[in-house]
Amino acid sequence: GAAVEVDISALKPGEKVTVEWRGKPVWIIKRTPEQLAELPKLDGQLADPKSERKPAELTPEYARNEARSIKPEIFVGVGICSHLGCSPSDKFQPGAQPSLPDDWKGGFLCPCHGSTFDMAGRVFKNKPAPDNLEVPPHMYLSDTRLVIG
Ligand code: FES
Repeated sequence: GAAVEVDISALKPGEKVTVEWRGKPVWIIKRTPEQLAELPKLDGQLADPKSERKPAELTPEYARNEARSIKPEIFVGVGICSHLGCSPSDKFQPGAQPSLPDDWKGGFLCPCHGSTFDMAGRVFKNKPAPDNLEVPPHMYLSDTRLVIG
């Protein structure tokens, strides 16, 4: 499929836009400094904190870092749960809803079977979803122009 070019100049910290690429929803999220600061603290609760599983399919080499991204603040990920393909919902705020843990720092909740993901799309342990969300191939043409695919 064709690559998709996105202008992210209007994206503010804490916001997400969704674009379609190869029939899949791709999320582009500008994380806040607080959200980024939480990522290293979560490793012990995650199934694959370093994104070592299925690297060729799920995490391009340039995104194999704590934030799973090229620019630390911008997360680009496919919004499809690695369990049975539902689309997880945004739960960016701490304490976003009662079914989330009390110490929830923000991320995504899959409505189908309750898998949870952090703000880098990393799956929490002991959830039905086996893997982190896919980071699609992408690159920057400039500070504000992103190409997916
Ligand atoms: Fe997401 Fe089952 S499809 S938890």
